[in-house]
Amino acid sequence: MYAVKALLNSSKLFPGSLLSFQLEKEILQRITCKNVPRFIESFSYDEVNCIVQEYIPGWPLSYLIDTGYYFNEKEVKDILRQLLAILKELHCPLAKENAVVHRDIRLSNLLLYNGKLYLVDFGLARFLDPRQFPFCPNSTDNSPAGSNLSSLKEDTHYNRGKFFEQKIPGHETYRLMRTEISPRSDLFGVGIVGVDLFTNLVEDESQFELPWDKVLTMSESFMFFLKKLLSRKKGFKTAEEALNYLESLPQ
Ligand SMILES: Nc1ncnc2c1ncn2[C@@H]1O[C@H](COP(=O)(O)OP(=O)(O)OP(=O)(O)O)[C@@H](O)[C@H]1O
Ligand SMILES: [Mg+2]
Repeated sequence: MYAVKALLNSSKLFPGSLLSFQLEKEILQRITCKNVPRFIESFSYDEVNCIVQEYIPGWPLSYLIDTGYYFNEKEVKDILRQLLAILKELHCPLAKENAVVHRDIRLSNLLLYNGKLYLVDFGLARFLDPRQFPFCPNSTDNSPAGSNLSSLKEDTHYNRGKFFEQKIPGHETYRLMRTEISPRSDLFGVGIVGVDLFTNLVEDESQFELPWDKVLTMSESFMFFLKKLLSRKKGFKTAEEALNYLESLPQ
């Protein structure tokens, strides 16, 4: 059994879509991390481009949260430890030219199978060295090619719309941290996953209006760790640094 990701070649609507497909394929082909489903092959049929990968018969973390599973702090720590180990390998592989950042670390892109974590969806990933895929649109300017964000930015209705008038607190930081082509973008994503995994412990919906650190119950040391992952200025520089810090925390 395999997993097949089919991407419509809607090149007229989104001019970068074919390049994005080629980049995703190129990146997957070069990844050797065993917690990323193995690339098998790719093919195109009419307007549909397909990537065939090893199938992981697990559940996305988003599904586990949606169906009411409670992760305790020990389990969250274990998931983040596994995730940071994957990122350490992706950011610093043996062949340096293959270093990639994922840029879309979220619950729905993480699968859990037999207690092991797998990272999927390299649709927004980039090589850290832009020379590895020079034809990629926006490969050097740190904005996600072919992503919802870059296409929205070009949309004049969107520009005129409420979104930019509203000044959402923290929005700019969130956007920058998510889209940057640097390990920091993924470390920020790890922080988001950490916070999201505690969501089911909040029973009173009105609590969601408060800052997460006022609502979620966890040890002080782990909360400090999550804040460091989410910090733009005082955060960790590498996945290895974050992993060593996490492993030094009391279990
Ligand atoms: N190798 C795999 N084995 C099993 N399930 C997978 C695999 N790859 C992806 N999936 C499942 O398919 C879903 C969608 O895959 P992926 O995230 O790569 O596509 P996407 O088009 O970017 O989707 P989305 O826009 O929802 O992020 C994942 O959330 C996961 O549940
Ligand atoms: Mg996805």
